[in-house]
Amino acid sequence: MIFKNNLLPKNLQQYEKLYKQSIDNPELFWTDVAESFIWKSKWSKVVDFDFSKPSFKWFTDAKLNITENCLDRHVEAHPDKTAIIFEPNDPNQPAEHISYRELHSRVCKFSNVLKNNNIQKGDRVCIYLPMVPELAIAVLACARVGAIHSVVFAGFSSSALSARINDASCKMVLTSDGSFRGNKTIDLKSIVDEALKDCDCVDSVIVLNRINSGITLNKNEKWWNDELDKVDDYFPAEIMDSEDPLFILYTSGSTGKPKGMVHSSGGYMVYTAYSFKNVFDYDDDDIYWCTADIGWITGHSYIVYGPLLNGATTMMFEGVPSYPDFGRFWEICEKHKVNQFYTAPTAIRALAKHPLDFVNKYDLSSLKVLGTVGEPINEEAWNWYNENIGKNKCPIVDTWWQTETGGIMITSLANVTEGKPTFATKPMMGIQPVLFDENGNEFDDNNKNGILGIKYPWPSIARTIYGDHERYKNVYFSAYPGYYFPGDGAFRDEYGNYRITGRVDDVVIVSGHNLGTAPIEDVINMHDNVVESALVGYPHDIKGNALYAFVILKDDSKKDDIEVEINKLISKTIGPIAKPEKIQLVPGLPKTRSGKIMRRILRKIASGEKDNFGDISTLLNPEIVEQIVEGSQ
Ligand code: WT7
Repeated sequence: MIFKNNLLPKNLQQYEKLYKQSIDNPELFWTDVAESFIWKSKWSKVVDFDFSKPSFKWFTDAKLNITENCLDRHVEAHPDKTAIIFEPNDPNQPAEHISYRELHSRVCKFSNVLKNNNIQKGDRVCIYLPMVPELAIAVLACARVGAIHSVVFAGFSSSALSARINDASCKMVLTSDGSFRGNKTIDLKSIVDEALKDCDCVDSVIVLNRINSGITLNKNEKWWNDELDKVDDYFPAEIMDSEDPLFILYTSGSTGKPKGMVHSSGGYMVYTAYSFKNVFDYDDDDIYWCTADIGWITGHSYIVYGPLLNGATTMMFEGVPSYPDFGRFWEICEKHKVNQFYTAPTAIRALAKHPLDFVNKYDLSSLKVLGTVGEPINEEAWNWYNENIGKNKCPIVDTWWQTETGGIMITSLANVTEGKPTFATKPMMGIQPVLFDENGNEFDDNNKNGILGIKYPWPSIARTIYGDHERYKNVYFSAYPGYYFPGDGAFRDEYGNYRITGRVDDVVIVSGHNLGTAPIEDVINMHDNVVESALVGYPHDIKGNALYAFVILKDDSKKDDIEVEINKLISKTIGPIAKPEKIQLVPGLPKTRSGKIMRRILRKIASGEKDNFGDISTLLNPEIVEQIVEGSQ
């Protein structure tokens, strides 16, 4: 265990006491947390910040390499402990157990490969790989040589990939000949080939043979294993400044261009490690599994860095929850005796639709803690998860955070503070959430909805948007000067628990009235026959903008009076001004892989467009777009 006991609250009272210390004297608190790590030299100042620039520096002048904290210290303490369990797509293939000693050696070897291919400290390396151990190894090797990794989820299209490679001027691309996904293989290399037609910045490509596709490489491309054959496993870690960038990770914004969020070395290390330990109540012999992909921030912080910094055993799963059948997650939990299981509400809802036999076949008694992330979890899904997976004995941590925050911000702490269905609950130590009213004034009353802000920096806050500090300032620090603005709404109950109500940046001005779409959707969703809805604005001759509602019904046979009933409900709850001009019944909504509705597409459909939806390859269900267009008004 890397943290002292006084930093790990055991119950609500201890949490409250520690939380108070963390906000009364943040510098003292974070000094104590940071002392838990191995530094080459210590900081001259704990935190230095200016919200108006904005500029955030943590552990100024300190030197470190995050991989010494992820690997070397654990090789010394417990070399044979499993660092990564790799569960392949094919359930008949054996799982791989990689010890800390072996992981260290493989990371050092790949660091030498990077160096041999001209990668220097500060260079950007794009990683486009499936969920195989080499992905984690590549990430850590970049960190070891001081290169900035930019992992692009291997489900993105070639145009999304080339845009990201060019935005960061990546010098190298790491990829594979293909990937396994359920009963399909995906030809990743052709996607990379297509992307690289537009990328002059790339000097070299290293290709892992994952699926034995038999391809031949182009010039400037090398096979992963040929490169490994040339090197040994000695590689002294590059000395990094605490504020040197560790990685770039792209997140979508309200406009089309993705934002390359830049994360630091020292602050990111301190916060991800500390939050991992406290949120999941990880014990030294536990097996921890987060089902996310390393292509997302959840995978960066809570598959790779957070767990390895704690010397934990972390699982990587290559496959999908539906292959060979809908019991795969639970089969894996039984097989590896998983103790902490962390997934997304969208996965829970998808699995809950299938017969319980898929769950009940398996022994889930090893599970101790369940987690969710990515979107608000509805009560029905929460209950299903609690009863059928947790057997009513596992705390559920509903973790609210963002690519930009680097780590979990609002959550319950397993076995320490209570969860509450549909509430993320309380701030992590050191996090100061506030609520604003519609006039931008901070308020303290409870049992009210407001707009979420964060009052004081925390160590893992993103430092900038790569190449566009002005956009960083405008998006996150301009709405409420002196605060970080995450773009979410929240409700606070009388015990100080926060429920995240959804994005607030989807505001539509209708006849001069500022209407947030989220609260109106909540009202539509109150109708007994509605499963889900999405509301967007579209240009209107008289009103400026009008509202267009896309609504999924539970029972399509009862749709005759639905429009009248929804309008009545809205008039009653919010006022006639909030009534949508058009209501379209749809079979589904376009969603991103983290479960968020892709409103950009709905806005286009609402304004009459029939095609030109841009890149929809990042959607979970791209086929739904055409169906919605067909039924549009
Ligand atoms: C947005 C961030 C954090 C990794 C996954 C998504 C929504 C996230 C929750 C939660 C309600 C949540 C927010 C946030 N969100 N977690 N537990 N409850 N909403 O990262 O793609 O950067 O998205 O996801 O709206 O702002 P992301």
